[in-house]
Amino acid sequence: PPNLQMLEEDLGLERVNCRAKGASSGFKVAILGAAGGIGQPLAMLMKMNPLVSLLHLYDVVNAPGVTADISHMDTSAVVRGFLGQQQLEDALIGMDLVIIPAGVPRKPGMTRDDLFNINAGIVKTLCEAIAKCCPKAIVNIISNPVNSTVPIAAEVFKKVGVFDPKRVLGVTMLDVVRANTFVAEIMGLDPREVDVPVVGGHAGVTILPLLSQVKPSCSFTQKEIDYLTDRIQNGGTEVVEAKAGAGSATLSMAYAAVKFADACLRALRGDPAVVHCAYVASEVTELPFFASKVRLGRNGVEEIYPLGPLNEYERAGLEKAKKELAGSIQKGVSFVKK
Ligand code: NAD
Ligand code: LMR
Repeated sequence: PPNLQMLEEDLGLERVNCRAKGASSGFKVAILGAAGGIGQPLAMLMKMNPLVSLLHLYDVVNAPGVTADISHMDTSAVVRGFLGQQQLEDALIGMDLVIIPAGVPRKPGMTRDDLFNINAGIVKTLCEAIAKCCPKAIVNIISNPVNSTVPIAAEVFKKVGVFDPKRVLGVTMLDVVRANTFVAEIMGLDPREVDVPVVGGHAGVTILPLLSQVKPSCSFTQKEIDYLTDRIQNGGTEVVEAKAGAGSATLSMAYAAVKFADACLRALRGDPAVVHCAYVASEVTELPFFASKVRLGRNGVEEIYPLGPLNEYERAGLEKAKKELAGSIQKGVSFVKK
């Protein structure tokens, strides 16, 4: 199909040329795994984001089809497709933000850690290319197990001396999105007005909602706390089981990924007070990585907030979360070091 690259090269149209080079102001964003269940709606939503001037869609399959389709949307971002490993570096050069939803999803009965064997290698390869082509980009990691893939990314960057802990962020926004929804449901609130901090990591007991810190302030019964904690921690499994073998959350994840990516871009632009939960290199606990509220700015993570006062229930949850997280972090680090 005709595309801006062909018009630029074959017809030499000055105006096309200008736009195809991403000359308009705005950010350059790459999605790696753009033809997948998350990748496609994520690409569509990023094409609708006015902060994006150039959108690179990379995958090992079907990237040209998704690109042709999305490029017909009459929004301002210019879209380009990249297919296969040999085009990976071209997809990454000059990018401000790289979002990674590449990798296999769970089927019923699997844990996120069961994806490690396949997804660890995928994330490692992609991060090696990022380290080479756009080491200053902000990287949003969605591929599971996030608790291990973020340490993998960090180790890859460390190996070649470009690790910047401010720029590598594991996306835990879906946990917050779910927590806001479920709390709003039982309290009869508008979910847009609810803010639940979710800390720790992104798998089972490592997903720790801090219900004592919900805004607006809510008072829950112990039964409600047990119900909410269990539903938030197992929200992913709820979707995996409902999809019955056809994958895991894709649409709510694309929504959450865009909410987070948009926050990163607004922060890069210089907007003040952009605060969200993310899984990052951290000193909030004794673990080297932890999810908590962070303030985003022009350089990525500018400030990591402490957990704040926890009640006894949350303190017990924190101990369980840290125990599992420690193993997942070590597994990721060893994978790159071995
Ligand atoms: P999917 O199978 O539908 O799509 C994955 C895409 O990745 C495919 O298009 C595939 O071709 C591509 N891919 C595979 N290897 C690649 C490589 N080396 N380079 C580039 N692309 C490659 O899966 P999905 O439902 O989109 O889920 C993707 C990942 O996101 C899974 O690991 C899943 O567990 C994870 N996930 C994370 C969260 C979160 O909250 N962080 C939420 C949902 C899903
Ligand atoms: C989710 O939370 O929906 C994702 O991590 C996908 C999964 O495997 O549950």
